[in-house]
Amino acid sequence: MKFYILTLFPEMVMNGLRTSILGRAEKNGYLSFEAVNIRDYADNKHLRVDDYTYGGGAGMLMRAQPVYGAYEAVEKAVGSRPRVVYLTPQGKVFNQQMAKEFAKEQNLVFLCGHYEGIDERVLEEIVTDYVSIGDYVLTGGELPAMVMIDAVSRMVPGVLSNEESAQFESFEGALLEYPQYSRPEVWHEKAVPPVLLSGHHANIEKWRRAQSVIRTAQRRPDLLKNAELTEEERILAKETLQNTCDPQKAP
Ligand code: ADE
Repeated sequence: MKFYILTLFPEMVMNGLRTSILGRAEKNGYLSFEAVNIRDYADNKHLRVDDYTYGGGAGMLMRAQPVYGAYEAVEKAVGSRPRVVYLTPQGKVFNQQMAKEFAKEQNLVFLCGHYEGIDERVLEEIVTDYVSIGDYVLTGGELPAMVMIDAVSRMVPGVLSNEESAQFESFEGALLEYPQYSRPEVWHEKAVPPVLLSGHHANIEKWRRAQSVIRTAQRRPDLLKNAELTEEERILAKETLQNTCDPQKAP
């Protein structure tokens, strides 16, 4: 899968993406990243990419022309109209399901805005998906693009090793992941739950599933409505909810 990132800060994006697991996946040929510097496509002598907004108001806007030029270069390289994601707090809020959907694309283009945004006319012509990574405002689209690319890349076959792509993860089946422990058996006088040392796989699975239900009820009760729970698990969730005052402050 190839990711193109249209940005004013190509080094920021490439340095982030070429680190750790995604860097390894690119070296091994599962992914490829290309940052396209929007400034390279500015048609004026000073390579200006921003300008004042019509109608007044504070702040500058990214001009349509260089953004369109950068997009056209990518469209030409791809050979067809790619899906173009514009990162904006006005978009649909990103989630795991969307990550899985985007991972089916051959090519994916991310458009990163800055200043007060981008001239609406170029957005109308090239953007296929408006996506937000959450209800807060960042200074630009680069970090959201990197967040999305990370989540999408993990869903591309071959990117994670078998060990890394553990079958059970938070949000699979709409439950949060159970707590995990490594050596030593006792740390700061806290012992690892004995069942995990028992070697009894069925009991371990049962314990983990119950922990997932409890943790989801404590921390993200909103997820429970989409979870597939047995009658016993529904009761466990309900009891946990009754004993939890503030889900944000729960241990
Ligand atoms: N640009 C600025 N804030 C953003 C957000 N929360 N999500 C996506 N893009 C953004």
